[in-house]
Amino acid sequence: AGKYTVTLIEGDGIGTEISAAVKDIYAAAKVPIIWEPVDVTPILKDGRTAIPDAAIESVKRNFVALKGPLATPIGKGHVSLNLTLRRTFNLFANLRPCRSVVGYKTPYDGVDTVLIRENTEGEYSGIEHVVVDGVVQSIKLITRPACERVIRYAFQHALATGKPKVLVVHKASIMKMSDGLFLQTARDIAKEYPQIELGAELLDNTCLKIVTDPEPYKPVVMVMPNLYGDILSDLCSGLIGGLGLTPSGNMGDEVSIFEAVHGSAPDIAGKGLANPTALLLSSVMMLRHMKLNDYADKIENAVLSTIASGPENITGDLKGTANTARFTEEIIKRL
Ligand code: IPM
Ligand code: MN
Repeated sequence: AGKYTVTLIEGDGIGTEISAAVKDIYAAAKVPIIWEPVDVTPILKDGRTAIPDAAIESVKRNFVALKGPLATPIGKGHVSLNLTLRRTFNLFANLRPCRSVVGYKTPYDGVDTVLIRENTEGEYSGIEHVVVDGVVQSIKLITRPACERVIRYAFQHALATGKPKVLVVHKASIMKMSDGLFLQTARDIAKEYPQIELGAELLDNTCLKIVTDPEPYKPVVMVMPNLYGDILSDLCSGLIGGLGLTPSGNMGDEVSIFEAVHGSAPDIAGKGLANPTALLLSSVMMLRHMKLNDYADKIENAVLSTIASGPENITGDLKGTANTARFTEEIIKRL
């Protein structure tokens, strides 16, 4: 049988360790994937942060990449490489599902949400300047084409997953023009999908309602501008146990990059304590995207049943006592 080559961006901090766990589990599950690791140490090109050409070529050649955490400097320094990757490959839709992990108890049961985040513009456009000392402007850029493609993606996703409703999360009451454009675009696109209902909700209200009871959000695909999606996806992640358990996919027309959204955890890096679940579940999304569903099911089931198997088999962040190696072995046993 043929093999697929997939670009691997291991990432900073715990990135190497969680990537090693993925590679071991994939080898044990005999997934027909050859990993192509690339170096994404940032370079400067035309005055902007850029990804080395060899890494760009690898992703373009392979169409799919799996990515660990890349540290982002706060308040200064280079533009986040995470964002640079999204922009370089025009990964316009960030798909973030959150499903309760049976065996990992939180105050919420049966959470099953899907959020799609506009991934290229909004407050993330990186257009900022000082007007005069003590006064700065950050531009929230919203364009109709970017709204159209992410909203269309949300409707397509609803169709593909059998969800009856797309819910726009916005703040068009305040940002009448930018969020107003996002909302109006959704109303226009909705006409192309008469079988799917369109709803709209104010962001603050969604936050309140979803932490009160996430159940009504099950049959819904949420779609929203970039920053709202960043924040609301962390909130949803919190319902099921945090970023260590949630996968994500940066989707474009050609290329897709599946990534763990958590940080690089420098405090535990190199100690063999990291939890590879988010990267593993992101890789499961990747396998389904590649239509390797049998391997996806096999790995997902092994990960979830390991988490349910008891504290001695899971990592510290999940209140367990295992190190990464033990957790990985337990997953391999259950493949
Ligand atoms: C995410 C992260 C990134 C973001 C950071 C690391 C730049 O928080 O993927 O949600 O803000 O988008
Ligand atoms: Mn985030």
